[in-house]
Amino acid sequence: MSRTLAVTGATGFIGGMLVKHLAAAGWRVKALVRPGSAHKLQQLPGLEPVIGSFQDSDALRRLLLDAGAVVHCAGAVRGITAADFNAINVEGMKQLVQAAHSLSPRPRFLSLSSLAARAPQLSHYASSKRQGEDVLASVAEGMEWVALRPPAVYGPGDKELLPLFQWMGRGIAPVLGEADARVSLLYVEDLCSAVLRWVDAGQCRSGVYELNDTRTGGYRWDEIIATVSALRARRIIRLPVPATLLRALAAMNVTTARLIGYAPMLTPGKVRELRHPDWVADNTALTAAIGWQPGISLQEGLQRTMGWRYTGRAA
Ligand SMILES: NC(=O)c1ccc[n+]([C@@H]2O[C@H](COP(=O)([O-])OP(=O)(O)OC[C@H]3O[C@@H](n4cnc5c(N)ncnc54)[C@H](OP(=O)(O)O)[C@@H]3O)[C@@H](O)[C@H]2O)c1
Repeated sequence: MSRTLAVTGATGFIGGMLVKHLAAAGWRVKALVRPGSAHKLQQLPGLEPVIGSFQDSDALRRLLLDAGAVVHCAGAVRGITAADFNAINVEGMKQLVQAAHSLSPRPRFLSLSSLAARAPQLSHYASSKRQGEDVLASVAEGMEWVALRPPAVYGPGDKELLPLFQWMGRGIAPVLGEADARVSLLYVEDLCSAVLRWVDAGQCRSGVYELNDTRTGGYRWDEIIATVSALRARRIIRLPVPATLLRALAAMNVTTARLIGYAPMLTPGKVRELRHPDWVADNTALTAAIGWQPGISLQEGLQRTMGWRYTGRAA
C-alpha cells in the first residue's frame, strides 16, 4: 500500500492528535482543511494541507491523489438541527466516499463514527452518525471500509470531558446520568494506536467496530469519581443533577445559541445521550480483526491529561 494517507478533521481534537502519530510513524499525511481553519495548521507541522471543502470535487481529487488509505475524522459534534449535523456527518461522508470509490485503485477507508450511532433515536447527532455509517456501507461497496465507534474520548485538547474532570479534581462531581448507568471511555492516544494498527495491518474485514479502554464493561459514575479521588487524594462531593434541571439548562442553551449564533453542545438531544443507561463498548471484534488492544487505563489517561500524580489514597 502507498505510504500516503488522506486525512480529514486534522484541525480537531482527535484528528490533531492522530496526524501527529501518523507522521511520527513515517506516513506522508495529506489533510483536507477548510479555508477558514488554515490558521490552525501552525500547530500541525509536517502536514500537507489541501485547502477546500467536501463540496469541492477538485480539492477532494487532490486530497486523494496517491493515497493508499483515507482516515475520515471530520465531523459535526455540536449543533441544534438535524441539518447542522447531517451536512457533514452524512452529506460530507457521501461526497468523500464517492470520490474515493471513483478511483482506481480504490483507497482503503476508515471513518470515525461514534458509539452514539448505536442509539440513533436519541439525538440528531446520533442519528447523523448512524446515517453516515449507512452511507459509507452502501457507497463503498466493493471497497475496504471500516467505521470505528469510539465511546467518549478524552485527552489533551479535549473540550467536552475535561471541564467535568476539572470539577472533580476541585472536589465536586456533577453526576449527569443515572447512578447505575455505565459508560466506556477511551484515551485519545489509544484511539490513535487503533487507527495506526489499522493502517499498518494493510487489510481488515469491512464493517463497524466498537472500541473502549482497558476496562471491560465500562464504568459507573462512582467508579470514575473514585479514580479521581484516589489521584487527588481528596474527598469528592457528588452533586446529582436532576434530569429536569439538565433539560431546562439545555433549552436555555439552545435559545441563547440561536440568539448569539453559536453551535451548542448541551442540547435536549445531548441530555438524552447523557442519561442513556448503557454506553458500554466492546473491543472483541476489533481485536480479532487487527490485533489492537488498548493500553491506557483511566487512571493513567487522567494523569497524562491533567498532569495529576497518583497518590493511591482515596479520601
Ligand atoms: N470527542 C469524542 O469524544 C468523540 C467520540 C466518538 C466519536 N467522535 C467522532 O470523532 C470525530 C472527531 O471529533 P472531535 O472530538 O475531534 O471533534 P472536533 O474537535 O470538533 O473536530 C472536528 C473536526 O471536523 C472538522 N469539521 C467540522 N465540520 C466540518 C465541515 N463542515 N467541513 C469540513 N470539516 C469539518 C473540523 O474542522 P474545523 O477546524 O475547520 O472546524 C475539525 O477538524 C467526529 O466525527 C466525532 O463524531 C468523537
